[in-house]
Amino acid sequence: MMPKRSRLGDVRGPISNGPMQSRPLVALLDGRDCSIEMPILKDVATVAFCDAQSTSEIHEKVLNEAVGALMWHTIILTKEDLEKFKALRIIVRIGSGVDNIDVKAAGELGIAVCNVPGYGVEEVADTTMCLILNLYRRTYWLANMVREGKKFTGPEQVRDAAQGCARIRGDTLGLVGLGRIGSAVALRAKVFGFNVSFYDPYLPDGIEKSLGLNRVYTLQELLFHSDCVSLHCTLNEHNHHLINEFTIKQMRPGAFLVNTARGGLVDDEALAVALKQGRIRAAALDVHENEPYNGALKDAPNLLCTPHAAFYSEAATTELREMAASEIRRAIIGNIPECLRNCVNKEYFLRSSTGGGAGGYSEGGLQQAHSTTPLEAPHSAGSHAPPSGGGPPPPPVAVIPPVSAVTAPPPQGII
Ligand SMILES: NC(=O)c1ccc[n+]([C@@H]2O[C@H](COP(=O)([O-])OP(=O)(O)OC[C@H]3O[C@@H](n4cnc5c(N)ncnc54)[C@H](O)[C@@H]3O)[C@@H](O)[C@H]2O)c1
Repeated sequence: MMPKRSRLGDVRGPISNGPMQSRPLVALLDGRDCSIEMPILKDVATVAFCDAQSTSEIHEKVLNEAVGALMWHTIILTKEDLEKFKALRIIVRIGSGVDNIDVKAAGELGIAVCNVPGYGVEEVADTTMCLILNLYRRTYWLANMVREGKKFTGPEQVRDAAQGCARIRGDTLGLVGLGRIGSAVALRAKVFGFNVSFYDPYLPDGIEKSLGLNRVYTLQELLFHSDCVSLHCTLNEHNHHLINEFTIKQMRPGAFLVNTARGGLVDDEALAVALKQGRIRAAALDVHENEPYNGALKDAPNLLCTPHAAFYSEAATTELREMAASEIRRAIIGNIPECLRNCVNKEYFLRSSTGGGAGGYSEGGLQQAHSTTPLEAPHSAGSHAPPSGGGPPPPPVAVIPPVSAVTAPPPQGII
């Protein structure tokens, strides 16, 4: 059995990061490739990768010594998982959703949880438009017919095949959530001729004026007036299965539904029934409650699914990883949580009783030795300049072999 994580004050004294001490350990929990993170962190931390799918696969050295963790969305950190880490101060989700981390428990254990909210906004908004256009123009289904060898020899066949294609101009697109991605979708949709309405109870009055949108104040009103509903809110304990049997009945008969936000917002079984009945004309989903997906919607008609890839482009991924590593870097050289740009659990985060501050790693040491400031822009992979300021040259980067990599050699370029 794992020893229990001791109380916050016992474990969270300042971690020295000066030349005489060993460097703080930062671990990528659920991946192997650290090639973008390494140039950003190598002068202030030792970087390890774990390639784990659960904490039971994480090496004991990482559980005992890692002060920083980077993670994708393929590992879940419950309270029990978090308690296994004895020295952890900061977790950075390489992505925006933090639903796979118990952020409250983390905060209470003195672990700051950060995300990277701004990455991939253009990509997700573009993908959303792509899915909306596919539903209206049926491009995906028409292309499949051509691929399967169907011949269109006259207008009647085209008409039959293209049944359901609809005109966009004048239709109402209803957005649930008008944050970064929702507003980027709104701007794009207006250009295509949509009347854009939104429901977002958390935004102050006036935002509708700056964007020239129609605002409604209840979900029911939005669903009632929209020809196409697109979800862009964050998933939380209040909106699980926001689209369910009951709310689907509030939608216009024959409306479209798009979800590029989080799978848990939609009750798949209710959607499957609505698609089979034609109550929802067609739907496009990039996200599912359990991924990879294999559930109630498998045989539903008029459904277009993509594999949670809306965010992806090479440029967005590089930017995302640089931003995540830079947040860890700020934590190492600054004070937590003041130095963090995107801490999502500040309200639960207990201030450390030691060190006089909020648990920063180092008040001197590296902070004095390097000119890097907490507000530095993300570094470009490969272009990270070696530290200046007279400190000793950084030691070579050491890597702890992950439990799962005992037999498999680590990828080249990491060691
Ligand atoms: N598919 C992908 O690859 C991908 C990539 C990035 C983000 N996302 C998801 O997209 C969604 C939007 O991301 P974002 O960066 O725009 O987030 P954001 O925080 O900028 O915006 C979310 C908005 O939703 C609003 N909101 C919260 N609960 C609501 C509710 N019940 N009803 C209506 N509005 C509500 C908030 O007020 C906020 O304005 C998130 O769910 C995120 O996880 C998906």
